This record gives sequence, structure tokens and C-alpha cells, in this order.
Amino acid sequence: MPGLVIVGAQWGDEGKGKVTDLLAERADAIVRFQGGNNAGHTIVRDGEEFKFHLIPSGILYPDKTCVIGNGVVLDPRILLGEIDGLRRRGVDMSNLKISANAHLIMPYHVLLDTAGEVKLGKLSLGTTRRGIGPCYADKALRLGIRVQDLLDEKILRTKIRVALEPKQQALRELGVQRRKLRKEAGEGDREAAEQAIEDAPDPRLDLHTMTEEHVSFGHRLEPHIADTSRLCWDVLDAGRTVIFEGAQATLLDLDHGTYPFVTSSNPIAGAATIGAGIGPADIDEVWGVAKAYATRVGAGPFPTELEDDQGRHMLERGHEYGTTTGRERRCGWIDLVALRYAVRLNRMTSLAITKLDVLSGIGPLKVAVRYRSREGATLDTFPYHQSILHGAEPEYEELPGFDADIDGCRSETELPAEARAYLDYIADFVGVPIRLVGVGPGREQVVWRD
Ligand code: GDP
Ligand code: IMO
Ligand code: MG
Repeated sequence: MPGLVIVGAQWGDEGKGKVTDLLAERADAIVRFQGGNNAGHTIVRDGEEFKFHLIPSGILYPDKTCVIGNGVVLDPRILLGEIDGLRRRGVDMSNLKISANAHLIMPYHVLLDTAGEVKLGKLSLGTTRRGIGPCYADKALRLGIRVQDLLDEKILRTKIRVALEPKQQALRELGVQRRKLRKEAGEGDREAAEQAIEDAPDPRLDLHTMTEEHVSFGHRLEPHIADTSRLCWDVLDAGRTVIFEGAQATLLDLDHGTYPFVTSSNPIAGAATIGAGIGPADIDEVWGVAKAYATRVGAGPFPTELEDDQGRHMLERGHEYGTTTGRERRCGWIDLVALRYAVRLNRMTSLAITKLDVLSGIGPLKVAVRYRSREGATLDTFPYHQSILHGAEPEYEELPGFDADIDGCRSETELPAEARAYLDYIADFVGVPIRLVGVGPGREQVVWRD
């Protein structure tokens, strides 16, 4: 500390929310720096569960500033729903600050995301259909609408009009496609076709209605809108701690993940500088969060995926259903080749390993230590070429398992020797100390290591 980044070390849902909540105890501000409401971060306090999509996982501390940084894409309807929901549960929202430069996910982004996925059919990415990709695309095209635009109706209307024009073109084509889909609804992927029909454009794409609606969102969000970079500098310059809470994860990174099966932002630690408006030298620590096994939601390569009883055990015991979409997560053994890659990319200084409790009773435990290519070559490093990764078969080291329930353990000495050896093996292999171990969803269900 003072500048500490928390990143997902695998394919997401590693428990970043819980780790952020725990480390936030020592911080003054908690900042989300990328992604949008594709994220779902869970905190369980005193048996009460909170799921955050846009709001930083520090919000349950009334005295800490929570920031939605400029790198986030923000659906104002979803954000207001989240704010209202938390207020109803008695959470004080006055310390929530939103960057004036964050981009807005507009209704047409959500429609285009769904339509794009339906159009891709079997090749679809399995996005969360929250409009993330189309919104970041508009940002890069300089057609984005930003939070600050909500505060000036004239600018807002002009910007929406300009942004809407090319969408209407695309959506007109989708209108044609909609009719085609309706025709074909009896064949093939009926569910997807029906979804496309249901989500089809038009009524929600009226310039006037959209502008009015967003002006009213602006009124409600105005008290939270701020110059959030400056806010981070003030805390950092006073020698106090800011936590930068990553969403998604390293292997979903737009540049360094398993492209094209990735998200449309950069979840790696370096992106905290751009997404929050700080300098690289402001970052002192990088904590990676990984599960004791591995999961992935959506399509894309996953070398250690299990489609057997052990995978089923992880799914059921770990309640591996998406926080945002409710989809079953694909499960498999921990992949140390991929984890070592994530450690280096993020230059992690510490690791938190979560959900160790889920592995009790399924020993021996396997850890992937290298891949074998289709041609029989040994791969010790994460392959940069997608065809090689798609064909990579993991080679495992087997370690003794443990049968005892560990969800009551609170210190390292209480953990079974096999669990400790498993952790030591991971830490040695990737070269980073494991400083925190999750043994259950509750915030108290953790073991701190030196
Ligand atoms: P995030 O997106 O990285 O914040 O992770 P999610 O919240 O989407 O998914 C992690 C899930 O695992 C949540 O349901 C957490 O409550 C739960 N969880 C976190 N840590 C542990 C742990 O150590 N053990 C168990 N059994 N569950 C955990
Ligand atoms: P948290 O922060 C797991 C996945 C989607 C899909 C791909 C692209 O909770 O770990 P997108 O909607 O971003 O265009 O989808 O990325 N994905 C996640 N998987 N956890 C997440 O967030 C995710 N956010 C996106 O399933 O495969
Ligand atoms: Mg999640």
C-alpha cells in the first residue's frame, strides 16, 4: 500500500469482491477502473449476501470513498437500480463518486451486443449481453456518450443523434434480420431467435425519448459526479491507501487474454493507471486473486476443463453459477501455466487463493504444470498463438488431497498438511507468496499467511 491493485488471475469470478472488501479495511478509497455491469462481485457479511455490478466492493464501509473511474462503462439505469437497492438495505451511498469521463452504455449498445451474438450463432463469444463491447467500440470511435454529457441536454441530444445514426443503419439491417429470424424461429436455435425478436430495436431507439430519459438519469446522478482522478491523487499524495478493484480477469484481457474470447477492456493491473487517471509509480502492490481450481463462463479455450464428476463436484460445491447471468460456470483444475503468465503480466506481488474449501474430498489434486501441443511439443509457457492454445493438452502433477472440511479454519496451522502443501506448491511454481486463503464465502472465512 498506498496504491494497491486487485486483479483477477484467471477467467473471472475468483472472489475479487471478497478480497477487496477484506483489504479495504486498510484503505481510504476503492476504485473500479474498467469493465461495466458484466462484472458481478459478491460479498457475504454476517450471512447477508451483496452482489455488486458497478459499485466498488468497498461501499459497505461508510467512511470510505468509492469511485467509479473513467475507464468503466456505465449503464445509468443499472447503476441507479444498484444505488436504490443498496439504499433500501440501509447502505450509505453518499461516498460514491462517479467519473465525469466514464462512458455510458446506451440502449442501442445492449441491443447490438445481443444481436451480434445471435448473428454469430455457433461462433458466439457468450458475452453477458450487457452492451460492453459496443460501448467500448463507440468510445474508441469517439462516438461515445460520457457521464458529463448527462448534465447538458443540448450536448446530450446532439451526441445521441450522431451516435444513433450509424446504429440505425446497423439496426435496420437487423430489422430485416429480425423478420428472417422470425421466419426461421421454428428451426435451429429457437431460443436465440426469440431472444433477438424480443430485443429487436425501434421503440427504445427514439432520440427524443432517449434524451429525456437520460436527462433525468443525469439529475439523479449529479450529486455523485466528480473529478475522480484528482480525488485519487489527493488520497495517494497524503500517503493514504487507494485500492484499484479490477473486474473480469487477466485471461479475459482484450490484448493479453484468449482473444477473441475476451472482454472489451483491459482488466490487467497496468490498466488501473488509464482507467483511474494515476501514474504507474502510484502502484505499490498488485494482488492477484485465483481460485484453488479454475472456472470460465462463456466460450473460449480452457485447457484444464473437466467434464466429469470432479468438474460437477466443483460446480455444485463451489456454487459455480454466474453472478451476473446465472449461467453454469465451466470448471477444471488449476492451470499453473496460465497462472504464471498472469503473475508476470500483472507483476503480482501477492496472491489470494480462494475457495480452497471446495477441493476437500476430491483428492488427489491435480495442477497443470505444462501443456503438450497437438504436434507433441512440450509447452512450458502460455502459448501466444490461438491455434496452439486451442489444441493444448495439459500435463498434470498430482498432489495429495484432503478430506476434512476446512471452512472453520482461521489460521494456517489449522489447515490439513496436504492443503498447506498444495498452497506451497502453487506459490513456489508461480513465484509469488500466497498471503490470503479463502475457506468459505463469508468475509471471516479466511486464513491470512505471512
Ligand atoms: P468476483 O467476480 O471475482 O468478485 O467473484 P464472484 O463474486 O463472481 O464469485 C465468487 C463466488 O465465490 C461468490 O459467490 C463468493 O461468495 C464465493 N466465494 C468467495 N470466496 C470463497 C471461498 O473462499 N470459498 C467459497 N466456498 N466461496 C467463496
Ligand atoms: P467478474 O468481474 C466472468 C466474460 C463473459 C464472456 C466474455 C465477454 O465478475 O469476474 P462481455 O459481456 O464482457 O463482452 O463478455 O467475458 N465475462 C466474465 N466472466 N466474470 C466476469 O466478471 C465477466 N465479465 C465478462 O462471460 O465470456
Ligand atoms: Mg463475478
